[in-house]
Amino acid sequence: MRDGKIVILTGAGISAESGLATFRDAGGLWEHVRLEDVATPEAFARNPDTVHAFYNMRRAQAAAAAPNAAHAALARLQAAHPDTVIVTQNVDALHERAGATVIHMHGALAGALCAACDHRWAAPPEMDTTTACPACQHPAARPDVVWFGEMPYHMETIAGHLETADLFVAIGTSGQVYPAAGFVAEARRAGARTLELNLAASDVSAAFDAHEVGPASTIVPAWVHDMLAG
Ligand code: APR
Repeated sequence: MRDGKIVILTGAGISAESGLATFRDAGGLWEHVRLEDVATPEAFARNPDTVHAFYNMRRAQAAAAAPNAAHAALARLQAAHPDTVIVTQNVDALHERAGATVIHMHGALAGALCAACDHRWAAPPEMDTTTACPACQHPAARPDVVWFGEMPYHMETIAGHLETADLFVAIGTSGQVYPAAGFVAEARRAGARTLELNLAASDVSAAFDAHEVGPASTIVPAWVHDMLAG
């Protein structure tokens, strides 16, 4: 296969055709609820019930969704070339359910975190303010997702991958949220070629060497086919 080590970043757009709303497209999540009310530590301190309800709804939607052809194609690519790294901003488990191994930089709906003792465990389908931590028994469970104002997970590992990438590919992300939006610049500085796969232009499209425009379930399998045939 061409291109040596591939590092892939995915965003909400790769799960859109699985029926999961993106954040900033028409009809997106942030059209229906203010992120300040559900996706910050302050929101959780102020109104944990509202936050739990938001993530319980997203957990149920993600559980009911199925991986699409784009998730399956990335899993095929990674199976053929195990050093392919997939970093996702998404908190659904569609990459894993398609058979891929991913780095969840924004955490995962499948995880619960204790706001009192930092213990992590598999999230129940629904959480509320009575959900107790199995380690310290405090009713301080929160979704193990990264909120605005918090540090994304695995950043050192991700930086190491970006420094050694031969090809950096961004799929279905608007390039509006850092640090993920800055990964293309880091990859370029390290000498990687860069490719953006998206339904539309993103805020960082100009930073990419090449672009494929279209729905992920069409253009990602086509790109993976070319990579595996190359
Ligand atoms: N195929 C490919 N791309 C698509 C599709 C599709 N079917 N549908 C939408 N897109 C693209 C849009 O063009 C847009 O660039 O997906 C992107 C969605 O952008 P956002 O809604 O901003 O999602 P994302 O980039 O993942 O957001 C990043 O912001 O709110 C935070 O933590 C949240 O992880 C999220 C982060």
